[in-house]
Amino acid sequence: MNIGKILLSKRSVSGHNSSNISKKRKKKKKKMELEKRKSSREDMVQKLYDTCKQIFANGKAGYVPPPHDIQRLKSLLDSLEPKDFKFTAPSLEFSSTNPGTVEAPLVTYIKIHECNKFSIGIFCLPPSGVIPLHNHPGMTVFCKLLAGTMHTTSYDWVQNHNHQANHDRGQHESRMRLAKVHVDDDFSAPCKSSVLFPESGGNMHCFKAITPCILLDVLGPPYSEAEGRHCTYYQHYSYDHISLSDVNKEMKEDEERSYAWLEERKDEQFVVLGGTYDGPTIKL
Ligand SMILES: [Fe+2]
Repeated sequence: MNIGKILLSKRSVSGHNSSNISKKRKKKKKKMELEKRKSSREDMVQKLYDTCKQIFANGKAGYVPPPHDIQRLKSLLDSLEPKDFKFTAPSLEFSSTNPGTVEAPLVTYIKIHECNKFSIGIFCLPPSGVIPLHNHPGMTVFCKLLAGTMHTTSYDWVQNHNHQANHDRGQHESRMRLAKVHVDDDFSAPCKSSVLFPESGGNMHCFKAITPCILLDVLGPPYSEAEGRHCTYYQHYSYDHISLSDVNKEMKEDEERSYAWLEERKDEQFVVLGGTYDGPTIKL
């Protein structure tokens, strides 16, 4: 009986000890997993940089990375979260327009990295903040909405068409060019990243924030005045701005919404506030 008690007691003591050890081990394991997860998230920006460096290594204007590289970068972008980046953006701190003005509130741009092959940056848009309609000459561009809801409209030029505005018309209309709508929709984070190409995928786009938005932008190659890749801004006109009878009688009514006239804006100046990137630091 006594032996039984002693054995029972020993088992019980030993069980208590092993339970304590097991709890400690579990705690340690959990801590290690958390640290591992934290450090792997800290590596996300480094991974983004390394992937861009590989994909755009030989990138020049007009270069389109092969499909598996595009998918690789898209997948990485899709796994990113706002918490992966630390930055200071004045436009999110002062998110309302000045009373009495109709101008859109200013957008902040935070440069994360820029070299002659590619650039990585973040746009922060306050509600009603706008990135006006602009192009990306010879570029492949990845966009990832990290936070917020925004309306996106994008276009590609209609190639080899006979819908060009008539040159006998006024100067204003002769400067217009027909474009096909690629996207015209609201997007809310988290959503999949998008990619546009030199001639397709919505090479010209504009954004209007509905709520405060954080948009990650990867350009390959970036704009370069020296290399003739400057940003051009456009004014959008609905397709029926030039009457169907004058341009293209056979275009069906349901297709009208799919097209627009774009006119280059000489006066457009997109002023952004400069934000600061606070990390994680990228090893070049
Ligand atoms: Fe853009």
